[in-house]
Amino acid sequence: MKIIVCKDYDELSQKAAAIVIKEMIVNPKMNLGLATGSTPLGLYKNLIDAYEKELISFKEVSTFNLDEYVGIDRTHPQSYYSFMYENLFKYVDIKEENIHIPNNDISRLNELPAEYDKKLLGNQRDIQILGIGKNGHIGFNEPGASLSNETFITKLNEQTRIDNSRFFGSLEEVPKYAITMGIKNIMYAKKIIMIASGKRKAKVINEAVNGPITTAVPASILQLHPDLTLIIDKDAASEIKNLDFLQQL
Ligand code: PGA
Repeated sequence: MKIIVCKDYDELSQKAAAIVIKEMIVNPKMNLGLATGSTPLGLYKNLIDAYEKELISFKEVSTFNLDEYVGIDRTHPQSYYSFMYENLFKYVDIKEENIHIPNNDISRLNELPAEYDKKLLGNQRDIQILGIGKNGHIGFNEPGASLSNETFITKLNEQTRIDNSRFFGSLEEVPKYAITMGIKNIMYAKKIIMIASGKRKAKVINEAVNGPITTAVPASILQLHPDLTLIIDKDAASEIKNLDFLQQL
């Protein structure tokens, strides 16, 4: 695992974007795994900027999002489908058919996980972007989720619903279910970049990098990935024990 500690959120967004931009230049047909939430917003701004400067094109890029809420329509402003359009896709030249976000059509819920797994298996991600929940979740793999899961429908943890209620009018409006890549799908990516910012993530970041590998902290499984880069700001790094040692590994 490589740990890069940045002075602030802007620097971490630039560093994460630089890795993606470099890959996109050498591999214009790359498969890019995307995450939602507040943390990747700066990274996406940097990618839009690089596109506007004609450093990169998304014309041949395929994207695969981690997860989507179940129980709200794709057209809902807080769906991850809407999030991706509003924060990245509408600004770049990505082709509609190359965008993959888990389908959340409740009339076909039983079929959807296997359908997404099939897409993921045929399209190994060159880079997977990950955020991390305060409870250690990656995608919507909440504490307790099996480490061997592929795409599945999950009940959202109360902490996650509380954390995400800031995007909705109230806690009641936050969906209770989601469809998410499983940890097995996430681990299948060639390279993983996990980003985190702020003191509220400091405790869980230490657990993810130093703690035992446990379903109680889903991100801890990433210790076993052969190419993980953690890009975090000083605040998120502030509780990492043995940081100097870990950075030398
Ligand atoms: P955040 O969410 O980037 O909004 O903190 C991260 C996550 O829950 O995975």
